[in-house]
Parts: sequence; C-alpha cells; structure tokens
Amino acid sequence: MMNTSIAQLRYQPTFPANYHPGIGIIGCGSIVRQAHLPAYQKYGVHVVGVYDPLAAATEGLQAQYGIQKVYSSLDDLLGDPAVEVVDIATFPDVRIEIMRLALTAGKHILAQKPLALDLDQAREVISEADRLGLKVAVNQNGRWAPPWRIATLLVQAGAIGEVISITHLMDVNFERINGTRFDTVPHFLLYDYCIHWFDITHCWLDGKHIQSIRAREYRLPGQPAESQADWGMWSEIQCQDGTSAMLRCVGGSHSQQNGHYFWIHGTRGTVRGCVLPERFVELDNQDGITSIPFEGQWFPDGFAGTLGELLCAVEEDREPFNSARHNLQSLNICFSACQSAEQQGQPVLFPGF
Ligand SMILES: NC(=O)c1ccc[n+]([C@@H]2O[C@H](COP(=O)([O-])OP(=O)(O)OC[C@H]3O[C@@H](n4cnc5c(N)ncnc54)[C@H](O)[C@@H]3O)[C@@H](O)[C@H]2O)c1
Repeated sequence: MMNTSIAQLRYQPTFPANYHPGIGIIGCGSIVRQAHLPAYQKYGVHVVGVYDPLAAATEGLQAQYGIQKVYSSLDDLLGDPAVEVVDIATFPDVRIEIMRLALTAGKHILAQKPLALDLDQAREVISEADRLGLKVAVNQNGRWAPPWRIATLLVQAGAIGEVISITHLMDVNFERINGTRFDTVPHFLLYDYCIHWFDITHCWLDGKHIQSIRAREYRLPGQPAESQADWGMWSEIQCQDGTSAMLRCVGGSHSQQNGHYFWIHGTRGTVRGCVLPERFVELDNQDGITSIPFEGQWFPDGFAGTLGELLCAVEEDREPFNSARHNLQSLNICFSACQSAEQQGQPVLFPGF
C-alpha cells in the first residue's frame, strides 16, 4: 500500500444508507450514559426507548436525548414492534438470559462485552440466532477507536506485510475502579478490561494458528490496601508460525503521558500508536514514517462503530465484523489467559473450536 492512499482509509463509523431501525436499550448504567447515548446522538441513531429495573438509571434520559419511551418492563420493550434492534448493556451475568428473550422476540442484538461468562453460553446464543435468522454483534467498541481501526485497515491492506509480532503497553492507573463493581469482578483485569486487547489482537492475528497462552495477574507495590482487583498483568500469545503477541499492564502508573500504546511489527513495516487517550497512529515502512491524522475517539465514536456495523450487516444480510461468532475466539483467548493466571503463568494449550 502506498502511503499516499492512506487518506482514503475509511476508519470512521459507518451507518446504512436505507435502514434506520428503532433501537431499544436494556440496562442504562454508567457506560450507556457515558458513551452509548452520546455516540447515538452524535450519529443520529433513532433510540425508541430504554429499560432498566432501577428507576434512577433512566431518570432524565428522555429529556436529554429525546427518547420517546421509558419502558416499565423488559416484556414491554421486547413486545414493542418499533424496536427492531436491542442494545443490551447490563453485566454478563444477566445478559445471556436477556439475549435469549430478545431473540425469541425477533430482535437483532448488540451485546456489551464481555459477551458471556463461558463459551458454551455464547455458542448457544449464536446457534439460536442462526436458527432464527437474527444477527448478534458484540460491543467491542475498541475496534473502532480511530488508531486501532486505522491499524486494522492497514494490516488488512498488507501495508506492513505479514504480521510477525504485536506488543501492547497499557500505561494506566486503576484508582478509579476502587469501590465500584469492577473492583470485585473475578479476573477484572484479564476478563473485563483486557477483553478489548485480546479482541483487537485476535483481529490483527487473523488467520494465524494460536498455539498457547500464558498470563499472570498480580498486585502492584503501592496499590491501596482496600482495592481488591489486581492492577498488574502480562500475557503472551504464541502462534504456531513464531508470531507472538505480548500484553503488559502497569495499572498503578503515575505519568503525564498515560496511554495504551501498541506496536504491530510486520515483515515489511510497522504500525504504532496509542489509544485511551487517542494520541497518534503512524505507519513506518519503505516509504517513510507517515503520521495518520484522524478525528474522533474510542469514547464515544467507537460505540457508534459497533452499532453501525451491526446495522450495515442487517441491511446487507451478511455477518457483522464484530459478530458474536468472531468474538468467540477473543473470549477463548481471554478464558485461556485466566486459566493460565490461575496456574501461575503456566502455558495453556489453546483450545480450538
Ligand atoms: N465497552 C466498553 O468499553 C465498556 C466500558 C465500561 C463498561 N462496559 C461493560 O458494560 C457493562 C455494564 O457496565 P456499567 O459500567 O454500565 O455497569 P452499571 O452497573 O453502571 O450498569 C448496569 C446497569 O444494568 C442494569 N441492570 C441490571 N440487571 C438488569 C436487568 N435484568 N435488565 C435490565 N437492566 C439491568 C442495572 O440496574 C444498571 O443500571 C459491563 O459488562 C461492562 O463490562 C463496557
């Protein structure tokens, strides 16, 4: 790929030309307020109504976002023919059952991450959706964080040749999760947080045969006594052909330049950049180093990317890029990493499908 054609990369969220279905949001907690609704407002998505068993969760949303209805029950939302697609943003413990009910009601689904508590649950929902001819996509919104999206398009276009190595450095501070539900989620770091990093790594390793996975999770010196989740981790993904990926998280970092930095090395070049915050992305190959300008951020634009891709897939009757089926491999990597961490970092042979 010539660096001159980089300007043509279509990295921004895309919505269908002629399909503008009503969306129903189930579960209206912090991420819906922080990212789903701001993204949908920015991109003109038609949200018909919302439902949350906690009255305070939906308070003020109608006025702020011009939403027509606050449903008083899940049945009311699922029974409304104006809702064609549901966006389920609860935690995974209750989400699978809601997904089953939504499929029975004939709705396409966008499900928050992590998709499920185990692979069997996820597979079951995928089979049921297939049987009913409905689409299930996962809200792996990081796939549309502009630097990651640009990197994915560059890898797919062969701009760096064949991928040989992926490196993520997560330079972050988790003080903000103290006292929240996230602090008590088992394997918070590997399962809830790093699912985005396992997922994007899976996208960049597309077509490679993963052989084994290792991971450790640990408390960091200086981590507050009251915090329960581990703030430090590393994980290594090894492929049969010698390609590898390494994730390292320093979750107690004190730095003026926090960020989630990444490098994708290929046989003919390198892509590097940073997300959260979205600092930069550049292509380094035989044509030189090209800094790629972009607009938007993971929060909230990535959240439009996932929904837009699902709606385009419905309109075009194809599998969405962020389909639950594609995400199964990311979950598989994630669960293998958790298993390895429980065995003090012993390699776990990667279970195929
Ligand atoms: N994609 C991202 O980048 C991102 C970021 C943060 C959180 N998340 C994920 O989003 C999910 C929710 O996170 P959150 O921070 O918004 O949590 P939250 O606790 O703030 O919100 C969850 C909401 O779900 C509601 N709920 C519970 N049971 C329900 C049911 N049966 N039906 C309908 N609603 C129900 C709760 O009342 C609550 O309002 C988690 O899976 C989390 O991992 C994703």
